[in-house]
Amino acid sequence: MNQVLVSAPSNIALIKYMGKIEGSGNKPTNASLSYTLENLRTFVRLTEIDGGADLWKPLVREDLEKIDLSEKGQQRFLKHLANLKDKWGVTKNFLVESANNFPSDCGLASSASSFAALTLAAAEMFQKLNPQPWGTDKKTLSELSRQGSGSSCRSLFTPWALWQQEYAQPMNLPLTNMHHICVVVEASKKEVSSSEAHKLVTTSPRFTGRVERAELRLADLSQALQSTDWHMARQIVWDEFIDMHRLFETSTPAFSYMTEASKQVLEECQKLWNRWQDGPLVTMDAGANVHMLFRHDQLKRFKEYREFFGEKFKILAFEGVKPDVH
Ligand code: DP6
Repeated sequence: MNQVLVSAPSNIALIKYMGKIEGSGNKPTNASLSYTLENLRTFVRLTEIDGGADLWKPLVREDLEKIDLSEKGQQRFLKHLANLKDKWGVTKNFLVESANNFPSDCGLASSASSFAALTLAAAEMFQKLNPQPWGTDKKTLSELSRQGSGSSCRSLFTPWALWQQEYAQPMNLPLTNMHHICVVVEASKKEVSSSEAHKLVTTSPRFTGRVERAELRLADLSQALQSTDWHMARQIVWDEFIDMHRLFETSTPAFSYMTEASKQVLEECQKLWNRWQDGPLVTMDAGANVHMLFRHDQLKRFKEYREFFGEKFKILAFEGVKPDVH
């Protein structure tokens, strides 16, 4: 019985993928840049089966959190597997089992890590069954993963990934092993999925000029990170997520992920920054939670923030050292 077990990390975008070219298999309207969150991972086990169709089930393992995937979510995941099978010319059927190493009730998106893990698991399995010359090429795998869920194409590279058009590539920046805090202010399922958000934002009057704004910020942020101009980087990252959330709030129909608690966390971040003229990069995805990234040498600051926000909110906090993955 052929079986593979693979895991892939999540990632947080500092320049956001928001808006895609309809019918293009998740090709983005602008390039994005992300930092890979090695500690937040999805595990996928793929097993060849005799049955007449592919199946999904939660992966049950003591050290992992069981995923409760909706019928629609399962179909989307299996459709991605079907696309990958087509690409390799594989006709066998498989049981897909998946689980996260982070709680599924914390409102953290797992589509990036889960689609990346499924792509990598399929590649490993299919290379055994029907090897292809491009079958282990990261660029090709990133492109394939993108077709399942856009942001997953960045999860194949670490620590930095730059996604332009078809696929992501690693980006060489001096900042590595950053510390990460996610303030979990809202754990329930999002009312507007990020796939829907991509469509809705195109109705915002602010979508005009969005591509140019994102591309300009990408160039400025790359330069700021290259030269470790932390103040500049922080400002650009902040402006970028605010820009994305304004798109949500000015779409037709308008929607918002920001809660009072998110606003409170953002205010506290601003106050702490003003007091110390130092602190983390702060960003939000299409959700209410607030992410913070600290340079490796800001360990003391990271611990202060962890204590400060941990007193009032549920948080996930990771020191920037690579985890052991089994
Ligand atoms: C706000 O990758 O979840 O997190 O391609 O439809 O699956 P689909 O969308 P998805 O969008 C993520 C959007 C974002 C920003 C980002 O990660 O760049």
